[in-house]
Amino acid sequence: MSVDKDMFDLFRMELELCKVKPGERVGILSEDLIRRDYAMAFSAAAEDLGAHVLHVNIPKRPGSFFGPGNSLRGRPAAIEALKNTDLVIDLIGLLWSKEQDQITEGGPRMLLVLEPMSVLSRLRPSPESRTRVEAAHRLIAGSRELRVTSPGGTDVTYKIGKLRTVSQYGYTDEPGRWDAWAGSFVWTGGDEDGVDGTVVIDAGDLLLDPILRYVSEPIVLTIRKGYITEIAGGGAEGAIMRDFMAGFRDPKAYAVSHIGWGLDENARWTFLATSPDASQSLGVDGRCYYGNVLFSTGPNTELGGTNNTECHLDIPLKNCSLFLDGRQILRDGEILPAEMRVPGR
Ligand code: FE2
Repeated sequence: MSVDKDMFDLFRMELELCKVKPGERVGILSEDLIRRDYAMAFSAAAEDLGAHVLHVNIPKRPGSFFGPGNSLRGRPAAIEALKNTDLVIDLIGLLWSKEQDQITEGGPRMLLVLEPMSVLSRLRPSPESRTRVEAAHRLIAGSRELRVTSPGGTDVTYKIGKLRTVSQYGYTDEPGRWDAWAGSFVWTGGDEDGVDGTVVIDAGDLLLDPILRYVSEPIVLTIRKGYITEIAGGGAEGAIMRDFMAGFRDPKAYAVSHIGWGLDENARWTFLATSPDASQSLGVDGRCYYGNVLFSTGPNTELGGTNNTECHLDIPLKNCSLFLDGRQILRDGEILPAEMRVPGR
């Protein structure tokens, strides 16, 4: 299989941002023939930078899925092999899984790459976006209360400070650090009994994977002590959301999960509705969209919490305001602090 020149160049740039050096060990994890072109291009680019490449290709299990349902579960030989590398390129989706923790706890940094080429090329990471994301991270880490409001009626308050904060800027150059090539944003979690209020998922907001639909009428969530107690309205999308969550038969499915905001000026809100590549994307454009609020439900183990439910929904919200300890960070979807803003936006 020959390697596409544009893909090779793009992936080589990405590995340079990840500071891949001669003599380093780069592990590439794939399943079946899925993203085989990515595996081959990362292999060629890593070797071109002088790294030693290990390609771990495993059979995809029927019914396997992103995160806790991944195909690496119960395959200790593959896990051990990946532990003995310096950087793992995850082409299957290990996030929220104990297999990911087992690998990164041993020292390798890890980069998740799932999006189609058009998205990877457009959401090209840079040290400049890293600087802005790290400024956002510092602000969250120093705060104890996060509040989100919107013209549509959202008013929800998170007590924060007990769970980790995660920066995503699309590359990783520090031992044990995870990132995804999926735009720039920042997220943390509320204290497990410390989220109260109302979230209105407004018309035009997004329910991400596995639903991947724009909402046509407002869905109103009532939240008490960290749990959704009512999901009202929303027409078809409200019904889908209610059925999807009930299907897990798990009270923990209704917990509130991570919260944060997007900082990626190259993300496109309408991507899933307008791009021919939409069916290959997990909707990262909505997740990292500049000035969004990313609300989510379900597990919080990735942040150091105790909820390991397999029901997880990311729900990007547009035009919100966000406050940290009373200081306004977003105003109707506009990023206010100078250290986080893109010049001209
Ligand atoms: Fe999420």
